[in-house]
Amino acid sequence: MAVEQPVGVPDHPAAAGDATAVAHPNIALIKYWGKRDERLVLPWTDSLSLTLDVFPTTTRVRLAPGAGRDAVTLDGVPLAGEPRRRVVAFLELVRERAGLALPAVVETRNTVPTGAGLASSASGFAALAAAAGAAYGLGLDATGLSRLARRGSGSAARSVFGGFALWHAGQPGHADADLGSYAEPLPVPVRALDPALVVAVVDAGPKAVSSREAMRHTVDTSPLYRPWAASSQADLIEMRHALDRADLDAVGEIAERNALGMHATMLAARPAVRYLSAATLTVLDAVLELRRGGVAAYATMDAGPNVKVLCRGADAQRVAAAVRGAVGTAAVHLAGPGPGARLLGANPDANPGANP
Ligand code: PMV
Repeated sequence: MAVEQPVGVPDHPAAAGDATAVAHPNIALIKYWGKRDERLVLPWTDSLSLTLDVFPTTTRVRLAPGAGRDAVTLDGVPLAGEPRRRVVAFLELVRERAGLALPAVVETRNTVPTGAGLASSASGFAALAAAAGAAYGLGLDATGLSRLARRGSGSAARSVFGGFALWHAGQPGHADADLGSYAEPLPVPVRALDPALVVAVVDAGPKAVSSREAMRHTVDTSPLYRPWAASSQADLIEMRHALDRADLDAVGEIAERNALGMHATMLAARPAVRYLSAATLTVLDAVLELRRGGVAAYATMDAGPNVKVLCRGADAQRVAAAVRGAVGTAAVHLAGPGPGARLLGANPDANPGANP
C-alpha cells in the first residue's frame, strides 16, 4: 500500500490516502436469503460459508482531493447506473464515518464472472471495504470491517475471513442492530475435512434478477420463506456439529438441502423466481450419480444457475470430470479454502481478517 499522503489530506493522519486490498469470494453452505432491514443489510438468519482460493477481486482506493466526484472503474471500464450507485453509496458511508468528505478514485479488477451467482459482490465489497477503510483511515478491526463490508453486500461480511466463517444475523429489536451483525472465523479441522468445491459455470452471463430484488420478493410473497428460515437455523446447528467432527458427508447433505430449500422458497414466490436452468439440473443428476457410485459429492447453488459441488480434495478431479462429462459446455474450476481480505503492501497488523 502506498502511504504517501495526497495533497489536501494532511489533517487526517490515520488516512493512508491510497490503499489496495484483495478479497476472495465465499460460498455459503448455510445460505443468507432475506433481509429484515434493507438499509442496514441485516439478515433474518445466520449463515455459514467457505471462502475460496480462486477468483480474487483487487481494489485500489485513492483519495482525490481535486476531483468533483468519485471515479469508479471495473476492469478499466467506468461503472454506470446501479453498480456505480452502490459503490458511491458505500463510499458515502465510509466518508461519513471518517469525517472526510473527499471523493475517491476506485479501480477494481475482478477475476470472477460478474453477476453470475458466483459471489462477485462478496469479494468486491470485502475488498472495497478493506481498501476504502484504510484509505479514509477508519482504523477498523476484523469485526468492524465485516460489519462495514456487510453494508455493501451482505455476503461480503463473510469474505473478510478466510476458511469457514459464520455471519451472525444479530438480535432483531436490539438497540444498536448494526453492532450485532458481523461474521467471525470458525475453527474447523480443515485438514481432516479436506474440503474442495468444484465450480461448474454453466452460464457466465449476468443474471436477470438481482439477489437483492429476488430476496425481497421472496420474503414478501413466498409462503415457504418462514418455514425455510426456521429450518435454516436448525441446519446451522447441525452443520456446526458436522464441521466439528470433520464429517464431510453430513456437511454436504446439510448444505445441499439448505440450498435446495432456499431455491424452493423462490419457486414458491408469486410470481416465481427461478435461477436454476436445465443445465443446473443436469449437473445435479451427475452429482447424484457420483454419490450412487460412492463419491461424497453435494451441490449448492446461489442466485444463478451455476453449481458448486462440495467434495473431498482427493476426489475433486474425478468430480470435475463427471461434471464436464454431463455438461460439455460448462467451465469447471477447482477451489479450496482461501484467505481473508487483506491490504497489499501493508504490515500484517493492518490485516485484521486475513488468515495466517
Ligand atoms: O450478498 P448478496 O446480496 O449478493 O446475497 C447473496 C446471497 C446468496 O449468495 C444467494 C447466498 C449466500 O449466503 O451467499
